[in-house]
Amino acid sequence: MKVADGIINVGVNDRKIDLFEGLYVVPNGIAYNSYVVLDDKITVFDTIDSRYGDEWLANLDEVLGEKTPDYLVVEHMEPDHSASIAKFVAKYPEAKVVANARIFSMIAQFFGEELKFDKVEIKDGDELCTGRHNFKFVFAPMVHWPEVMVAYDITDKILFSADAFGKFGALDCDEPWDDEARRYYIGIVGKYGAQVQTLLKKAAALEIDMICPLHGPVLTENLGHYISLYDKWSSYTPETDGVVIAYTSIYGNTKKAAELLYDKLVEKGCSDVKIFDLARSDKYTVLAQAFRCSKLVLASPTYNSELFPHTRAFIDMLCERGYKNRTVGIIENGSWAPVAANLTRKRMADLKNITFAENTVTVKSALNAESVASVEALADELL
Ligand code: FEO
Repeated sequence: MKVADGIINVGVNDRKIDLFEGLYVVPNGIAYNSYVVLDDKITVFDTIDSRYGDEWLANLDEVLGEKTPDYLVVEHMEPDHSASIAKFVAKYPEAKVVANARIFSMIAQFFGEELKFDKVEIKDGDELCTGRHNFKFVFAPMVHWPEVMVAYDITDKILFSADAFGKFGALDCDEPWDDEARRYYIGIVGKYGAQVQTLLKKAAALEIDMICPLHGPVLTENLGHYISLYDKWSSYTPETDGVVIAYTSIYGNTKKAAELLYDKLVEKGCSDVKIFDLARSDKYTVLAQAFRCSKLVLASPTYNSELFPHTRAFIDMLCERGYKNRTVGIIENGSWAPVAANLTRKRMADLKNITFAENTVTVKSALNAESVASVEALADELL
């Protein structure tokens, strides 16, 4: 797939994968991008997942014809991008591998010291001239592993951004960028907001016309939109003043309370409210929506004197990713000793800048006049 003059994506769409990283559902698959830059010296940016190594090399062959690559740039060592390095080196023993010291050490970890190749070791800020193109390398540790570096093509103003600005979904799926890029970012990189902010600051000094990520489409227009979303996500700033209600329910009574809150919010004019059953929804979708909105309501029964397992797991997912700067409301249910509200507050106690709503809804088995009134009060407070 042509990306620009002399730049071709020889990557592969993976529509067979069930769970990306063994964790994330990808109903529209995922793309592993690999870019070839044809110049006096030919450069390949990153390999791909081991299951598609042969297909990728065949794509590369088709583009190169009689030529052979001079450089393989390795930006990231997660195996969805690095697993075919040994295959590449075996096929093109004359090519030099361009990477930083940490990447070379990870290549040895993954492939063993016996994998031999010529190295060009890059330091932060180094440049590589391939003829017309001049690539400047910028280290981007923890976006999303410690060894990551991105490359900026000074000539054509293209940022080869590794995982940054990637999304779930094969390249031939027709879906909007924001939701699946957000789910990808929050799930996979969400913990590393500070490091993404550092990369964005470095990128702000560059004039960028095109972004070539290792997943998802090449971004060519309206780059401010994508960069501003990345800025919001990585600074833990809500995109919207909306409400996410995430509930679990055993016999339907907690669900009724959550749905009543939803109805009240809509009735009172809230235009952005979403409700999810945590047991039956993709939790990473709910997580991404929770980061999108400024307010989250967690509704859980008490179970074995604990939170209901799906709620507990969901709170852990929020905590792992440093959820902050939000308002959290709580609905609890318990027939004899409701403790879910206290446990929710305790579990989230270390999160920064979380304001718990003053109105906590306690349902004793089923909604009654008192709990209906407290749902109403919580709706008013959230608005
Ligand atoms: Fe797409 Fe962090 O690998």
